[in-house]
Parts: sequence; C-alpha cells; structure tokens
Amino acid sequence: MTLKLTINGQERELAVPPQTPLLNVLRNDLSLNGPKYGCGLGECGACSVLIDGMAARSCVLPVSAAVGHNVTTLDGLAQNGQLDPVQQAFIDAQAAQCGYCLNGMIITVRGLLNHNAQPTAEQIRAALEHNLCRCGTHVEILQAAERAVVINAVALEEAPYE
Ligand code: FES
Ligand code: FES
Repeated sequence: MTLKLTINGQERELAVPPQTPLLNVLRNDLSLNGPKYGCGLGECGACSVLIDGMAARSCVLPVSAAVGHNVTTLDGLAQNGQLDPVQQAFIDAQAAQCGYCLNGMIITVRGLLNHNAQPTAEQIRAALEHNLCRCGTHVEILQAAERAVVINAVALEEAPYE
C-alpha cells in the first residue's frame, strides 16, 4: 500500500504498512534523525514531531494517521538557512548535556508557541511536564524555553506568520 505524506513541506510516497509507527518511517525510510527513539511508549517525548503545528509523539502514531496532515520534524524547522527561534534559544542557553531529549523539548516548545506566543512560566512548565530528561538539565531547558518566547516574539515582529 502506498501512502502519500507531507513531511517538512515535501510530498513523499511510501510503500509501508499503514500501522507502522510514524517514527520508524521517519528514521528508517526517510533518514530523518531529528526524532529520537526513547521509550517507544509515548511517555518520554524524545520522538516528538509537529502535526499541523502541534506536538505529537511519533512512536505511538501509525503512519496512516499522518496522511493529509503536515508533518514537521526537527530536521525541517530551520527555514532559509536560519534556525528556528526555539532551536537558537536552546543553543544560546546551552541546554544540552547528552542532548537526547532535546528534539522533544524543542518540538514541544515550538508547538506551544504556535498556539500561544506568550506563554507564562507555568504554561511552559505544563507543556514540558511529560518530556523526560535523564541528564537532569531541566533548569537550563526551562531557561531555554523562556528565551525562546523572547526570540520568537522578535522573529514574529520581523516576519509575522500568515
Ligand atoms: S520514544 Fe516516543 S514518547 Fe518516548
Ligand atoms: S540532556 Fe540528556 S536526556 Fe536531556
């Protein structure tokens, strides 16, 4: 069975069983290594992607559920050679130790800002509550997320989304 998907703005046709986890298709068939395999159970957030701008856990999402939606991975966040403001904020804040969780953190913050450009500190905490970091860099991650709000606001002023 051939499925038509829109991944990082590109139309892709894939002959894969419809129940295959989206994460497997992204990593194994499309070589998009932004999303990470962590728990495989929807509990850690490492595999997060954006589906129509909202964060979703691709390890528990059958690829067929992504048909007709826009899937964005970490690999597709940068535009025109420019990092997404959330990516830039995480670099600025040096929020990584091993970095394995950062895909999920960045995608989750991007998803939050897509529907709430000025979240409070509590709303940021709530959004990230179910993203796990085994290295314990939560303080830096929260700082990065708060910086992302600021950088994102500047970017929106310069080039507002349509
Ligand atoms: S790998 Fe998907 S939530 Fe952990
Ligand atoms: S930085 Fe290592 S898991 Fe978060």
